[in-house]
Amino acid sequence: MRYQLYREHKYVSSALNDLERLIAKTDFRNPQEIILVEQTFQSLTDMLNGHAQYENDRLHTLLKNRHSKIHEHAEEDHAHQDEQLLKIQGIINSISNAPTDEEKVSIGYTLYLTYRKFVADNLIHLHEEETMLLPELQRLYTDEELKQVEAPTYKKMTPEEMIGMMKVLFPHMNPSDRLAFLSDIKEIQPEKFNAAWHGIAPTLSQDEQTSLSKQLQILS
Ligand SMILES: [Fe+2]
Ligand SMILES: [Fe+2]
Repeated sequence: MRYQLYREHKYVSSALNDLERLIAKTDFRNPQEIILVEQTFQSLTDMLNGHAQYENDRLHTLLKNRHSKIHEHAEEDHAHQDEQLLKIQGIINSISNAPTDEEKVSIGYTLYLTYRKFVADNLIHLHEEETMLLPELQRLYTDEELKQVEAPTYKKMTPEEMIGMMKVLFPHMNPSDRLAFLSDIKEIQPEKFNAAWHGIAPTLSQDEQTSLSKQLQILS
């Protein structure tokens, strides 16, 4: 199997869907519940912006460097995503400003419909990246070259930051994904690996710790 990118999409998809379920259940007459939607939306926005920036800067640059144009539609999607996020933020603001409970509930339903459509568009975007951009990257670059995509990130990160990242991502992934992240850290930043492994290992099942130790050749 070729080297994979976009594994973090499993987390992105889960975060998008979690907020859709939260909005679906929110009582928009209750200010505390609106605040929770607002805060969850803000952290989702930060995560989506960071993710799009990473893809534009790292992955699309690789494609541009080999004269591919396949990323152009995905890059338009990223710009469209900014507009959609602003529109959703505007709807959230107008719920708090609505004078009656009836209006708050009515705008809340508009928020639900608009956000659910945004999730649908975004899931198609993730699909396009994994089924069109990834094969093109794999065609144009070797596995060793693709592995270097994460090198600058891991070089900058402390072991604590690596543990924090894995704690966020790993619950949404399978053992092969977790092995891929840990193998990359071990290969790219071997001096940080021990601390990163000891921080994340206790969050995994005993069976997975044993199997990963073997696969990563960790001496106990
Ligand atoms: Fe993207
Ligand atoms: Fe993506």
